[in-house]
Amino acid sequence: MSLRFGELRVMVASSPDAAREIMKLHDAAFASRPLSPMQELAYHGAGEGVIFAPYGEGWRQLRKICAVELLTPRRVHSFRHVRADELSLLLLSISAAAAATSPSPVNLGERIAAFVADSTVRAIIGSRFEHRDEYLRMLQEGIKIVPGMTLPDLFPSSRIARLVSRVPGKIERHRRGMQKLIDTIITEHRERRASGKDDDDEEEEDLLDVLLRLQKEVNSQYPLTTENIKTVMLDMFGAGSETSATMLQWAMAELIRNPRVMRKAQEELRRALAEDGKVTEDKLPTLHYLHLVIKETLRLHPPAPLLLPRKCGSPSCKVLGYDIPEGTMVIVNAWAISRDPAHWQNPDEFMPERFERCGRDFRGTDFEFIPFGAGRRMCPGMAFGLAHIELALAALLFHFDWELPGGMAVEELDMTEAFGVTTQLQSDLVVVAVPRVPLSIE
Ligand code: HEM
Repeated sequence: MSLRFGELRVMVASSPDAAREIMKLHDAAFASRPLSPMQELAYHGAGEGVIFAPYGEGWRQLRKICAVELLTPRRVHSFRHVRADELSLLLLSISAAAAATSPSPVNLGERIAAFVADSTVRAIIGSRFEHRDEYLRMLQEGIKIVPGMTLPDLFPSSRIARLVSRVPGKIERHRRGMQKLIDTIITEHRERRASGKDDDDEEEEDLLDVLLRLQKEVNSQYPLTTENIKTVMLDMFGAGSETSATMLQWAMAELIRNPRVMRKAQEELRRALAEDGKVTEDKLPTLHYLHLVIKETLRLHPPAPLLLPRKCGSPSCKVLGYDIPEGTMVIVNAWAISRDPAHWQNPDEFMPERFERCGRDFRGTDFEFIPFGAGRRMCPGMAFGLAHIELALAALLFHFDWELPGGMAVEELDMTEAFGVTTQLQSDLVVVAVPRVPLSIE
């Protein structure tokens, strides 16, 4: 489908065949992303990070750093204590609401978002820094300000569009505040390292420590500028926190709407963890049905339904026989693809068992199911995101049963999607937790 958004030429791919041509057959031609004027302003130096970097040597180096240093299974594993800590806080806060004489409903969506955001920020800048809360607040503010399709984005050549819009001023103010804060955090990290307070134990390194270590290494394979480091810090939070939180919220909403599936997932968990009395990460790989639930949620509710846009970087590229002019913004509609009745039976039903039969996976080879994208720009943070999702979902289902407040019927749960780069539930997910397995938190 060819569209025009203001001055922008846009192509939307809504079938697995079109997605395969874009992300496999012609992957190199579509390996850059468009950067709108307001995004450019917000992420001053976005080219210095991973997400918006043009396809080329700079991007390749940073992807390598993600693959071999920042987002490896070993690094993700090293943050398991952070996840366990933050999970305890989440469970305790839910438990406190459930323990009242008449259990009060909790805004589960909000608590899940806080769990993922706190845990992600601790992984990026550590637990010891006094500016952690301020950093988190500004990051969240930034995600809201960073525009999708504002007037200056739609009419990039128009000075009037820029002059009448209030967005540039807001972005500029936020960016200055953010830069100052990041500079302080980096200085604190450097001073701590110089004072020798950090031991060399890799388990203790946060992502900023890793980046500063790589920057200092003489003859490093990866020459890193401080601008690279700052932008990668923003990338990790921007790409990592809302996606995982959104996915968890949809999983809980679908489970509440589908009591049969909820019961089956809980039975599996309570059987597998009966002796342990709590959820630990080493048991997660054995939970077969839980993984089917996660896949089915990613199919029905890919957190980034249109992935992240690509740009046609070749003067002569065809998709399904159609010419794609150079510079066209290319959107892959993963949401439509994974609900297409031509490829999925009863596509609107939440039925985790379908994955037992079809065996499709989200690792970028089955183009009917691409919540993490595919090809060279595919998400490098899958393991990091899934670590939060699996742990929190397992613990929420293991320790509590879930009901809707005020005798509300499950059919009444509002499943409307909000507009945005990530598709969240439009209404708050407010539910009542009924304790089932007592918490054993030291
Ligand atoms: C459920 C969780 C997540 C989902 C569904 C998700 C989805 C995506 C998607 C659809 C893309 C674009 C892929 C493409 O263009 O083909 C992407 C890119 C990216 N993601 Fe994720 N993501 C998740 C979690 C994370 C986490 C936890 C991190 C890091 C901590 C992360 C880091 C990134 C980065 C850096 C990119 C840009 C890659 C590039 O342009 O080369 N993501 N993600």
